[in-house]
Amino acid sequence: MTSVKIKNLTKRYGKTIAVENVNLEIKDGELFILLGPSGCGKTTTLLCIAGLINPDEGEVWFGDDMITCAEHNKFERPQERNVAMVFQDYAIYPHMTVFKNIAFPLEVRKKHKHEIETRVKEVAERLGISELLERKPKQLSGGQRQRVALARAIVREPKVFLMDEPLSNLDAKLRVYARAELKRLHKRLGVTIVYVTHDQLEAMSIGDRIAILNNGFLEQIDTPENIYNSPKNIFVAGFIGSPPMNMLDGTLIEKDGKLFVDLGFSTYELSNRFDKLKKIKSTEVILGIRPEDISISKENIKNSIKAKVDIIELMGRELSIHHRVNENTIIAITKPTEDLEIGDELYLVFVNEKIHVFDKNTEENLITKNS
Ligand SMILES: Nc1ncnc2c1ncn2[C@@H]1O[C@H](COP(=O)(O)OP(=O)(O)OP(=O)(O)O)[C@@H](O)[C@H]1O
Ligand SMILES: [Mg+2]
Repeated sequence: MTSVKIKNLTKRYGKTIAVENVNLEIKDGELFILLGPSGCGKTTTLLCIAGLINPDEGEVWFGDDMITCAEHNKFERPQERNVAMVFQDYAIYPHMTVFKNIAFPLEVRKKHKHEIETRVKEVAERLGISELLERKPKQLSGGQRQRVALARAIVREPKVFLMDEPLSNLDAKLRVYARAELKRLHKRLGVTIVYVTHDQLEAMSIGDRIAILNNGFLEQIDTPENIYNSPKNIFVAGFIGSPPMNMLDGTLIEKDGKLFVDLGFSTYELSNRFDKLKKIKSTEVILGIRPEDISISKENIKNSIKAKVDIIELMGRELSIHHRVNENTIIAITKPTEDLEIGDELYLVFVNEKIHVFDKNTEENLITKNS
């Protein structure tokens, strides 16, 4: 296996910039996610790693080997890169048995029959599909098919696995299972995987680290936890989390040495955790708070926001409550113990450490930003 480094990668299609100046360092053995909305450049980045697309600018490295360098017109051919690609439909051959499917890449390489047999059995053993070798794909579950596709990729001993939305045609339940399975396999095999998805939940649940792309730009690279807790900007904050983070327009004001956000309908006092904001010039801000970081109270307590219950949704073990606050909707998630009804008036309290403040103009997170 190998590490993968991407330097200043840019790919244009006429006037469309598919990927712009992207820099990534993927560690050996990492399960690295490329996440972002449709058209943000995920597949393009993956294909540049595979060598199936040549970028206009930039470099790709596998460990200490430079395999792409646009400046010097150096593009190692895809066959020489030894990457395994796993796509949505797995592309396992329906007329071949599982054994034949896994053996296929070795047969193409004209390996000796004995070697093929040994390696197929060994890989099948590692993936727990030894009993399925004589079956045809249609006699397998979705999860088993996924393992066959992986086995066929692994048998070639690739340097890197490149996966483009490999689970997206599975139903929701199977997907959760297949996700966990992939995570387990990754742990066991210790292979380097670059995994593309537009599903933030999938990214959060399996990724060691996540790179978030938006319109060809890299917005943030970090662990799922840091991306969730310390989003670098409004785009990342809004893209990760469901229901999404509440975002409220406001103006920063300082009064008697204390800092407040004037939200128009209410003024919210910020604790001294936000003292560094006293120095900044921009006062137009967006206050961000995730639904699970809001508590609700029937009493009017200090530094709370008066709201009216608009919609109550039961989401399994929790309630998602939509509140009307003037023209705004604020969503809070609580345990379904409250005796709440639509139209009730109550007070929302934001968990202080979980408040985010973004610059309205630059959209940057003002708390995590290095000043
Ligand atoms: N062969 C091509 N010719 C012209 N434009 C292209 C080509 N391939 C991709 N693009 C454009 O480049 C941008 C990035 O495409 P890409 O396929 O990388 O997106 P993606 O993030 O994989 O999206 P999705 O989640 O929909 O698969 C898009 O605007 C797309 O329309
Ligand atoms: Mg794609």
